[in-house]
Amino acid sequence: MSAGFKPVIWNGSKIVYDAILLACVGIYLFTYLHIAPAMAPRGTGVDEAIRNMRAFGSLAFIMLTFILCIGPLARLDRRWLPLLYNRRHFGVFTCVIALVHASQVLGWYFAFSSVDPYVALFSTNTSFRQLRGFPFELFGVFALAVLCILAATSHDFWLKFLGPGLWKRLHVLVYAAYAAVVAHIAFGALLSGKNTGLAIVAAFAVATVAGLHLAASWRPSPLEDIGKGQLIDAGNPLSIPDGRARIVQLPDGNAVAIFRHKGALSAVDNTCAHQRGPLGEGCIVEGLITCPWHGYQYRVADGQSPPPFTEKIATYNLYLKDGRLLLDPQANAPGTPVEPLKLAGASS
Ligand code: HEM
Ligand code: FES
Repeated sequence: MSAGFKPVIWNGSKIVYDAILLACVGIYLFTYLHIAPAMAPRGTGVDEAIRNMRAFGSLAFIMLTFILCIGPLARLDRRWLPLLYNRRHFGVFTCVIALVHASQVLGWYFAFSSVDPYVALFSTNTSFRQLRGFPFELFGVFALAVLCILAATSHDFWLKFLGPGLWKRLHVLVYAAYAAVVAHIAFGALLSGKNTGLAIVAAFAVATVAGLHLAASWRPSPLEDIGKGQLIDAGNPLSIPDGRARIVQLPDGNAVAIFRHKGALSAVDNTCAHQRGPLGEGCIVEGLITCPWHGYQYRVADGQSPPPFTEKIATYNLYLKDGRLLLDPQANAPGTPVEPLKLAGASS
């Protein structure tokens, strides 16, 4: 993340993130394909082609599970935020791994079919009325189609083209893809009853995703939402850590991020102009409010991105009374300058 306000382009952090991701992918595949078979008792191994498709299929499932955990983890503990920062590359990698798995399946199970493998995939098994033998591949096809759409539209061009609202709604489809992958595994590998290890991993993965989402939604709210009179009591100003923010919920459902920087407070809309990231969960980097999601930056005093960028967010007015911080819930137009509120006696 740089104070030079880099939008979503390549930078050092992304290269390190991707390198670590690739290393983890390599370690998993090497362990699955070479170390595990060497340690397995004689006669328990499977054909190399099947081992390959299982290695890539299980890896895609684990990666997708991890992607879904990053959001709630970052909400529960800020130390996970760096993972959130580059989650889109993680998603594209997952799609590539799932594509390799699917192409191995097509090249093995359907290669000697009398019809085209793609036709065979949809027409060979039509046992829709029974659980055992159900055409579980179709769940995989649906999940893969969603992953491809999400990977293809992950670039900022599509974000601008579709608009943040529609783009975000489209990307919520990742949950449908996950449910489909779980069904793919349950109706395929698990109903065959031969893969206890995968059953344990899948149960643990689903419980972790569900548990983390519940924990993140039940977490005692860090928001201080009072808003009885015209001004909202935003709490003790001195307890906001320097360089960080307190998020205050407004009665109309919007949220405001009140940042402390160099002994003064500034309030801005909590929603980033890029993809609606929670600015109040970010921090100040070299004098600029920096979004935790992809590093978009805004000046504390007027909510504007530094030139040459043109994004603007709304600012709010703050007051101090009897040691309490008061917030005017009426937003100023995006980019309106507001003099930061000096904290008497505060260390900067
Ligand atoms: C066109 C799409 C897909 C097709 C045709 C397909 C097909 C298959 C087949 C035939 C198997 C059984 C392999 C065997 O053990 O003999 C399998 C297993 C599996 N697939 Fe897929 N799949 C697709 C997409 C996906 C996707 C998108 C994911 C995950 C993101 C996935 C994850 C898995 C997993 C975890 C297994 C079980 C591996 C194991 O037994 O250890 N598949 N798939
Ligand atoms: S930088 Fe992407 S949502 Fe804020």
